This record gives sequence, C-alpha cells and structure tokens, in this order.
Amino acid sequence: MSISGPVLCVVGARPNFMKMAPILRAMAAHVPPLPVRLVHTGQHYDKGMSERFFEDLHLPRPDINLEVGPGTHAIQTAEIMRNFEPVVDAHKPSCVAVVGDVNSTLACALVAVKKNVPVVHIEAGLRSYDRTMPEEINRILTDQISDRLYITERTAGDNLAREGIPSSRVCFAGNVMIDSVFLGRKNARSAKETLQSNNVNPVVLSHPLGYGVVTLHRPSNVDHPEILRALLRVLGEVATKLPLVLALHPRTRSNIDSFCLSDLVDTARMVLLPPLGYLEMLGLMAGATVVLTDSGGLQEETTALGVPCLTLRENTERPITVEQGTNILVGRDRSVIVGAIQEILAGRGKRGRVPEFWDGHAAERITADLYQWLKQK
Ligand code: UD1
Repeated sequence: MSISGPVLCVVGARPNFMKMAPILRAMAAHVPPLPVRLVHTGQHYDKGMSERFFEDLHLPRPDINLEVGPGTHAIQTAEIMRNFEPVVDAHKPSCVAVVGDVNSTLACALVAVKKNVPVVHIEAGLRSYDRTMPEEINRILTDQISDRLYITERTAGDNLAREGIPSSRVCFAGNVMIDSVFLGRKNARSAKETLQSNNVNPVVLSHPLGYGVVTLHRPSNVDHPEILRALLRVLGEVATKLPLVLALHPRTRSNIDSFCLSDLVDTARMVLLPPLGYLEMLGLMAGATVVLTDSGGLQEETTALGVPCLTLRENTERPITVEQGTNILVGRDRSVIVGAIQEILAGRGKRGRVPEFWDGHAAERITADLYQWLKQK
C-alpha cells in the first residue's frame, strides 16, 4: 500500500526549526522519499526568530505560510487553527506532523484530529507537572490527540502511560534536536566572530575563566518587574566573577526597557545581544564555561555538548538532562545560583553523559517508523 497524501510538517516558533530540519532531511533521503509539505504558522516572524534559522539549518522555504503573528494565547491559537484548516482541506495529508510544545503545535494538531487526519507528535510525553506553564498544557493536550508519539527519553513513555496512552502508539526514537546539534557543530560560529558581527569588542570575553551564556524568556521569569529585577541582580553578581553574554528574546528586551531595569546591566561585564542565529548560539554555547537559562532546548543542547547548565526554573520537563546530563535546577535563589557558579569555576562542574539515542540519527529512526506506520494505515 502506498501513502495516501503528503505529510504536512508544521513549524511555527523558534524551537521548532531545529527539530523539523533533520526530519525533513530524513524524509527526503528515505527510499522511497516521503511526500512532504512544510507549513510555517508565522507564530514567530522576526528575521532573528525565524528566517535566520531557515538559513542556518538549510530548511526549505515553507510551502505555506499562515502568517498569524503575535497575539494572546487564545487569539494566536485560534488564528492558527482558522488559517490551517483550509490547508488541510486542500492538501489531503496522510498525517500532520507537529514538534515540541508551542501554540502552533497544539493548534495544528487540533485542526487535524477534528478532520480525522492522523496526528504525529515528535518530542511527546515530556512533563514538567507545572500547569502554569503554557507549554505544559500544549504538551498534555497534543499527546492526548496524537496517533503516533515519538519520545526523546524513556521517562516520557512512563508519563504517557500514566495518562492512558497505549504503549503501541509510542516509539522511543531519540532526540531530533540533538541531530541538529551534531550536524551544526561543524559549521558553528565562534564566540569571537559572533561578538564582532554584533559590534562588541571580543576582549570582553578574555577572562581567564572564560564566559557564561544567558538566555531568559519564560513569562514566569521575565513578565514580572520584581522577578526580572532580582534575576538581573543575581546575574550582575555572577558577572563580577565571570563575564556574561545575554542573548535576549524580544519579550525580555522589551520588559527590561519598560520596567526601567537597564541600569542593572553592567555593560563592562554583561554583553546584551539580540536573539542569535542557530550557528551563533551553538558556537557560543560550545565555548562557554556555563550556560544559565530557562529554555527547554538549551538544557538538552548543553547536555549534548557537555557544557554545565544552570536552569533558572524550579522544574524541568526534561529530567534526563539532570539525571544523566550537565543540568542543575537552581530556580531563582541567589545563594543557590552563586554557589553553583563557584563550583563550576572551581572546576567541579557537572560532566554528565549523552543519553541513549541522542546520537544524531533520531530523525532517521522516526522516518523509518513513520513510513511503515503510514503504509499500514
Ligand atoms: C514561544 C513558545 C515557547 C518557546 C519560545 C521560544 C508558546 C506558548 N511559547 O514563546 O515555548 O520557548 O516561543 O522563543 O508557544 N516576538 C517578537 N518577534 C517574534 C516573535 C515574538 O518580537 O518573531 C515577541 C512579541 O512581542 C510576542 C512575544 O515575543 O508577542 C512572545 O512571542 P510568542 O510567540 O507569543 O511566545 P514566546 O514567548 O516567544
């Protein structure tokens, strides 16, 4: 039996692009190739949040762009659904493939399931058990309506089993984000080049202990003036021991300005950069002494790179990065963060190991499985 229609592959926001790139490559390389249409919802739309990732990851131009742009969660999700429905009608896909946990993931999965189009969720089963995170809601709901679920770590399978999802739907295939890390590493840009291209003197990073990289964008960390102020103070203290490079999400940059917090940034020790491209971020992380972040993706990438990571959150949906990798949850507690930095600067940072199937071949395993699964339908 042949496959009935194209696989509609959905991307929307920054963390989707590095997950979908290896999947598209593997689908094209499969014998026979899987027919694919790439849909960009337009959830992220700035060059620095979207287009640059297409260039760095050699992603093909999207076949369809829904151009939804920003909005509240309700508006954004609703707009994506409204614009995606006619695409499903027109293309009659064999399935809709979604990655990760952003609003685009849930919105497109919902449209598909209501039209009896099978939903394939890549990076399924991760749980922070914190329902105040919008991504946790997206994860739970997407998994409930998915027909085939690919997981990155075995605990994700346990989470799905607890939610009543039959194990016959679940496949442990590894981590596609790490496929991109392995491929991108060869072409990653050095920290020096990244600073130079952003008109920053790279001498800032000539400290004998190296430099730290910071990203912050979770609403829980950056949307409240008092919380963001406290975090910037702690980062200022860390920067007295180790220069920091902050790659700022547009939300964080605009909140630092609107909450009048820019005085807390000591520019002699803290470099503020706009959102970086994939190859710039990879090079910056690979050369870093430590990464401080609230991003899910960076917790995984630092584990793959063997770079110590301090996660500025109380929980993680990616526990393997703590159990096996280089990640430590430090929350927002000043003394915990400063203590962890001291350990790392004393050469006692977590070394960790790279988890099972985070080996650069996850997309191939997913494609091989998906092909067989679609043929049987
Ligand atoms: C989204 C994801 C989050 C992911 C993050 C990575 C959801 C619920 N959240 O959060 O899981 O970690 O992307 O960046 O889907 N903005 C721009 N330019 C852009 C995109 C956004 O300026 O290209 C600004 C806008 O002011 C926008 C705000 O950032 O309103 C938030 O963007 P949004 O897509 O709503 O959520 P993120 O915080 O980026």
